[in-house]
Amino acid sequence: MRELLLVSCLLFSVYGASINDPYQLDGRIIGGYQISISNAPYQAAYELNGRQKCGASVISNNYALSAAHCSISDAVASVSIRVGTDQRASGGSVHKASQIINHEKYSTFPSPRFDISLIKVATPFVLSASVKAIPLATVLPAAGSAVATSGWGATSEGGSASAHLLQVQVNVLSQADCKRAYPLRITDQMFCAGVSGGGKDTCQGDSGGPLVHGGQLVGVVSWGVGCARARSPGVYASVPALAAWVKQHAGV
Ligand code: ARG
Repeated sequence: MRELLLVSCLLFSVYGASINDPYQLDGRIIGGYQISISNAPYQAAYELNGRQKCGASVISNNYALSAAHCSISDAVASVSIRVGTDQRASGGSVHKASQIINHEKYSTFPSPRFDISLIKVATPFVLSASVKAIPLATVLPAAGSAVATSGWGATSEGGSASAHLLQVQVNVLSQADCKRAYPLRITDQMFCAGVSGGGKDTCQGDSGGPLVHGGQLVGVVSWGVGCARARSPGVYASVPALAAWVKQHAGV
């Protein structure tokens, strides 16, 4: 399953730089640093058959928000959400999914669009210093704003997952710059974030996880060409653009 996910993420690489690009960056998340769960208590792990596959965000007592490309092919009985831990494979509490709601307009061509899903949990999250619901942003931060994203994903392009939760600071790009980086692939329900010159980004396994500004959830890790490459920023599902859908289905 993880292999499938990697392939689905790598598919998008063929549009941009060569898939055989020898250029690989080292680092964490990519270019990030370790954080404790109390610094990002909304961070959750999306698990398939007990194994971390994606990220997610706690948005209420009984809903986590993730990416549709993470959950679209998973049976609800095989999915659970782990919260309250900064370790990828241990600690915190694990909540079985009772319902998965993928955005009905989710599609992958020519790029993942409406890449958002809701995971309802069978037993409510117990909110604490390490488990907190994050409010949804209603407006996107201005271009240039610093935002934080986090996860247990690959620490280099093609690399392996991180055992400890990592966070990285990137900047929101203008929609014009985002479209210049990915012609014909950016919709109003997406935006880009990265740093000039590359070196800081989310990567495979971070998908579905949070992008945060001012204590609010503004984006969901969705796609990119490779990871942390110069001129190929990360692309995030826009929470403000999809907030009405979340409200309709989760009441949040
Ligand atoms: N699709 C990837 C996943 O499933 C996330 C890729 C994010 N890529 C990026 N360059 N920011 O984990």
